[in-house]
Amino acid sequence: MIKILAFAGSGRKDSVNKKVVAVAAKGAQEAGAEVTIINLEDFDMPLFNEDLEAQQGMPADAQKFKELLISHDGFLISSPEYNSSYSALFKNAIDWASRQTGDEKPMVAYRGKVAAIMAASPGALGGMRVLVNLRMLLENIGTMVLPTQKAVGGAFKLFDEQGNINNEKTEKALKNLGQQLVATVTKLKN
Ligand SMILES: Cc1cc2nc3c(=O)[nH]c(=O)nc-3n(C[C@H](O)[C@H](O)[C@H](O)COP(=O)(O)O)c2cc1C
Repeated sequence: MIKILAFAGSGRKDSVNKKVVAVAAKGAQEAGAEVTIINLEDFDMPLFNEDLEAQQGMPADAQKFKELLISHDGFLISSPEYNSSYSALFKNAIDWASRQTGDEKPMVAYRGKVAAIMAASPGALGGMRVLVNLRMLLENIGTMVLPTQKAVGGAFKLFDEQGNINNEKTEKALKNLGQQLVATVTKLKN
């Protein structure tokens, strides 16, 4: 079975990116994948520092996050746009999981993986600018990013208190992203 890891680049309790990635995750599930949704703030990862790494090694939660990336075929990622780029929380997690330990291959968490990316913002552009940076980052570390992506604008008005989405077109586009990810991973695996 295809395994997809879904997460947002925001640690905020009421994060719209968490809600958006959950919709895409539903699309991936409907396409037959096993989806694991995680919250980055549940992983205790100090700000990356090579001195800290040399003294203490990889923190247990960074190792846990890295193993989750390794054990999944593809990623669904929704990123907030902070000053036109991704959050420090997200980049810190990516950096920790990029570190090579033991005799494993370099970038084992990222190479050969496929990602579908999206962004959500209360603004009209929906975080369109972060997608450029996010795509570049992921491609540079060996993860293939689907050409289709989705920036969700006006995101604060899009969900009810239970987290249900109220716009059919956006729901369809996000689910479609999840389905496309599963279809692409399936083709690559066969
Ligand atoms: C430091 C910071 C910078 C931000 N910069 C942008 C920005 O460049 N573009 C944008 O659309 N929203 C920007 N925002 C607003 C975020 O889109 C908004 O806080 C959003 O809700 C964050 O996503 P979340 O709900 O998933 O936490 C910024 C917010 C913060 C805290």
